[in-house]
Amino acid sequence: MATIIDGKKLAAEVRERAAADVADLAARGIACGLAVVLVGDDQGSATYVRAKLRDCEECGIPSQDYKLPASTSQEELMELVQRLNADAGIVGILVQMPLPRHLDEEAVVAAIDPKKDVDGFHPENLGRLVRGLPGLRPCTPAGIMEMLDAYGIDPAGKNAVIVGRSSIVGKPMSLMLLAQNATISVAHSHTDPRELARICQSADILVAACGIPKMIKGPWIKPGATVIDVGMDRDENGKLCGDVDFASAELVAGAITPVPGGVGPMTRAMLMSNVAFAAKLQNGLI
Ligand code: GUN
Repeated sequence: MATIIDGKKLAAEVRERAAADVADLAARGIACGLAVVLVGDDQGSATYVRAKLRDCEECGIPSQDYKLPASTSQEELMELVQRLNADAGIVGILVQMPLPRHLDEEAVVAAIDPKKDVDGFHPENLGRLVRGLPGLRPCTPAGIMEMLDAYGIDPAGKNAVIVGRSSIVGKPMSLMLLAQNATISVAHSHTDPRELARICQSADILVAACGIPKMIKGPWIKPGATVIDVGMDRDENGKLCGDVDFASAELVAGAITPVPGGVGPMTRAMLMSNVAFAAKLQNGLI
């Protein structure tokens, strides 16, 4: 049976470290404000935002909560971002995605000051990742790297397979694992489905981020492999599940993240860590 990677416990440790950093910075007169912007009334997004604001409170991060109507124009949203960019008390800006369809997400992300981009979505920060320079990293893959490290799983020389190629998870994940000297394969919606099982079976580290409930089953997993499940899906009974069929996978894997209690809590905790990082960056402490 696989070791269960306890994302909840690790996330609590990451939040504790972030809170200590924030307290240190406050003692030097540096406020670590986070602005969270939610446009429209998507219930899922509203739930995520509430959770992020709770995390801020726990970590001593002063948060500003901007709830804008779905009818908000591109100009209004850009003006808010510019105002937050210029606000010295705000070290981090998070615009919850997805935005209503009439709004241009790329333009909004590009308008955020890269030093305040605590999501790590800005082209400059993704470019820094490509070039191996320090910078703000996207929370989900950054959290996964923390998990691997905490469980003594060194990617160097291992075969890592990432299923999914989003800009938020799959692509930055592949770059972070590459930076740690793994050999990388990225499978995606155009990968020959007859090849997918074989590709997954080659993985010493398998990251599932495709958004298809329980797509990856036990026989696709190399015995002893580390399986990281980024999925937040619903199964046929409406129950929360991941992209990995946990019941069959845990019999084969060496280590595996559960859903819930795996990647999700770590993603949220890394946001807190990024806020502290952003504050240091803006104050010449990094
Ligand atoms: N929507 C889903 N995940 C995320 C995230 O990590 N950050 C933001 N801003 N929006 C999201």
